[in-house]
Amino acid sequence: MEKLHQELFDFISSSPTAFHAAASAARILKEAGFVQLEETTPWTLVPGGKYFITRNLSSVIAFRLPEGDYRAFQIVAAHLDSPSYKLKGKGITACGGKYEMLDTEMYGGAISASWMDRPLSVAGRLMLRTDQGVESKLVDAGKDMLVIPNLCIHQNRGVNDGKPLRVQADMLPLYSLHKGADLKTQIAQMAGVKPEAILAEELYVYNRTPGTVWGPDEEFISSARLDDLECAFSALKAITEAEKIQNVAVACLFDNEEVGSGTRQGADSNFLENVLRRISRSLGRSEEAHEAAVASSFLVSADNAHAVHPNHPETSDQVNGVWMNEGIVVKFSGNQRYTSDAVSASVFRAICQAAGVPVQAFYNHSDIPGGSTLGHLSGRHVSITSVDIGLAQLAMHSSWETAGARDLGYMAAGMTAFYQAGLFSGADCQWQING
Ligand code: CO
Repeated sequence: MEKLHQELFDFISSSPTAFHAAASAARILKEAGFVQLEETTPWTLVPGGKYFITRNLSSVIAFRLPEGDYRAFQIVAAHLDSPSYKLKGKGITACGGKYEMLDTEMYGGAISASWMDRPLSVAGRLMLRTDQGVESKLVDAGKDMLVIPNLCIHQNRGVNDGKPLRVQADMLPLYSLHKGADLKTQIAQMAGVKPEAILAEELYVYNRTPGTVWGPDEEFISSARLDDLECAFSALKAITEAEKIQNVAVACLFDNEEVGSGTRQGADSNFLENVLRRISRSLGRSEEAHEAAVASSFLVSADNAHAVHPNHPETSDQVNGVWMNEGIVVKFSGNQRYTSDAVSASVFRAICQAAGVPVQAFYNHSDIPGGSTLGHLSGRHVSITSVDIGLAQLAMHSSWETAGARDLGYMAAGMTAFYQAGLFSGADCQWQING
């Protein structure tokens, strides 16, 4: 297995929830010399500095300042959350005390069938009472703890006929045969805290099967949470490894994309806008200079795309579909559900071309609308020229997703080239690329 794939799988394994993904990102950034700031205290930034901030401990914005003056912000955005099942407060004792079950609700749009009959675990955060107040503690059971069992075919002859799966009826995980066994008590033990110290918690079911490279030419990767940890990982790689940046390089890793981004820490919040403003202010720039820099800036919104499906090619536009291992996907939509337009796509394509990174164009099947992305949500708060990109993958929102093994390297190289490009808009729809 290539080093890059192993690094991605390690990142995904250490990131069962958005909280853990933010902690994984923080660890990578600190190792690369980034200094952690808090939103709650004033910032003193120095040219050439590398910094990051978290919000809700589940979204991260990292940035690097150039040594000299700059014209623009060069921003990459991706998301850290993935579809899953979130635990409700109490478990369920079923069948007269014979089974202890967890009570859950869906987070985002999971493909339910893909979560059945496979080993699952639990992770999230606990809010603990301390002498001073309350504080957050990450917890990851890190072992097989649950299964969501299918009903056998003998008792469900229609199982292969497309029977709907209801979360409350069909998707509750089996936890124990021990009457009264309580997951929260076990989680408290694992976290080394007293159960009564836990005031509230956010716990999620996750697939802990490690990622794998496969195929006769090792042409595929499969893993949990490729959407969108593959792009988040690439963004971290790029911002930590880019050389000679000429503008402010920014990487935004947002939580809550799978539920509409409308939270305090989501892409549809003031997080990015505030960070950009505070960077300018701390460097002594006027409001006028800040507005000019924002207008000269560029955002790359990175979230995976749908490869043409081998069994269902009719769901894609096969002339304008995208394929695994054929490069970074630029997404277009006539009604601008993706932010890409001819201007932003041409800038991004020019950068990738110079770096030798292949690019392909994605258009939805005209009668099957696709999802939307981070780009236009961020754009509501800070309206920047943007391109929506991703990597072609299969089975998006399954608990086990598949993508092209070569594409990961293309994404990391493309994002690195973007940061190094010294890009800014000199006048409306005119772009200068200095890299
Ligand atoms: Co996504």
